[in-house]
Amino acid sequence: MKLFNVLLKDVTHKIEYYSRFSPSPMSIKQFLDFGRENACEKTSYMFLRKELPVRLANTMREVTLLPAKLLNQPSVQLVQSWYSQSFKELLDYEDRIPEDPRTLHDFLGDLIQIRNRHNDVVPTMAQGVIEYKEKFGFDPYISSNVQYFLDRFYTSRISFRMLINQHTLLFSDGINHAHPKHIGSIDPSCNVVEVVRDAYETAKMLCEQYYMTAPDLKVQEFNCELVKHCSIFGQNPDKPIQVVYVPSHLFHMLFELFKNSMRATVELHESDKEGLPPVTALVTLGNEDLSIKISDFGGGVPLRKIERLFNYMYSTAPTPVLNESQNAAPLAGFGYGLPISRLYARYFQGDLCLYSIEGLGTHAVIYLKALSSESFERLPIFNKSAWRHYQLGPEADDWSNPSSGPRDASAYKPNED
Ligand SMILES: Nc1ncnc2c1ncn2[C@@H]1O[C@H](COP(=O)(O)OP(=O)(O)OP(=O)(O)O)[C@@H](O)[C@H]1O
Ligand SMILES: [Mg+2]
Repeated sequence: MKLFNVLLKDVTHKIEYYSRFSPSPMSIKQFLDFGRENACEKTSYMFLRKELPVRLANTMREVTLLPAKLLNQPSVQLVQSWYSQSFKELLDYEDRIPEDPRTLHDFLGDLIQIRNRHNDVVPTMAQGVIEYKEKFGFDPYISSNVQYFLDRFYTSRISFRMLINQHTLLFSDGINHAHPKHIGSIDPSCNVVEVVRDAYETAKMLCEQYYMTAPDLKVQEFNCELVKHCSIFGQNPDKPIQVVYVPSHLFHMLFELFKNSMRATVELHESDKEGLPPVTALVTLGNEDLSIKISDFGGGVPLRKIERLFNYMYSTAPTPVLNESQNAAPLAGFGYGLPISRLYARYFQGDLCLYSIEGLGTHAVIYLKALSSESFERLPIFNKSAWRHYQLGPEADDWSNPSSGPRDASAYKPNED
């Protein structure tokens, strides 16, 4: 028992130590250059054996700032135990020299094990939020803290997996036969329209399983990048749009947007004689932004509700009832599609925005950086500003709120004398 307490104290001390370092954000270009130029496993090891504990410790310190009632939920405790276990495993490498071939071999194996351990972090945290809500109800103050926390927590997880994937893909023995040109998880010439079509086809399969029908896709592509090395600025209309990016991230975002657009379109137009209006994708490359707009005629969402669609606490209610006899994967589940997709977009300095015209339909736009040298990881840092976020209590509204005005407006007669 005594030894256990000493170990626990030691780990807590180490978490505190590593959390004092800020994570070092990498750009896609840096990932690419490192992977291309005879990637050195030792260098990667030396970087990761410090960077991974730093990123984990920054997150683990922030978890402890959550309200105790949420922290005590069994699912949240389970996630915390995964983080502690992985952190401890990484500490083993603090004094292991890379010159010993067993070190690199063991490290690779441990990274794969750590990645697998964290596979279910998102649904398990979602379960924790549901457990909390079932016991204590919805509280707007807690919800805003949870929103702030989960955005940062899931971003940190995306980044953690990115680092692990780069190392394991570059240095495990197997060659990536399916994508020999990829550098780890990065495609140096990712054809955006191909990913759009891929994501559409996968969502379409799901939609047809569920509704027996699916809207068509129309794609438009505008390559407006200025032609380089040319004295007169022109455009590149015929060149397919390519970007240096992680195709699995792009696929994830597009798949979520297509599922949403298809569901809205089918539910509104299922019985229309003219059939379903198509979903359109507009892919545009400028000098700074690569923008992908997915539009539908699914009836849209009122402005008042848009913000809410990105909220983890709103979207987890009501809990989806998983019917065992239902074989088809659901087209809509926990309500994490939009918030997580936005995190993927923001992770490399892009964004995901929803513009809806209620009654008609929705435009969802994914913005990515056109240049890989500008796509730096956007990472949460555990510091005083972050800490302060959790300390502020609920404050009075500083804008008028119709529901807090006089109950009976007719009772208020200012001109009465
Ligand atoms: N294109 C759209 N048209 C109309 N409503 C939409 C559209 N996109 C999203 N929504 C609304 O936003 C909600 C949240 O979307 P989100 O993708 O985050 O979760 P979900 O689709 O409910 O579940 P999942 O986690 O499976 O994606 C949807 O349930 C839907 O009501
Ligand atoms: Mg969805």
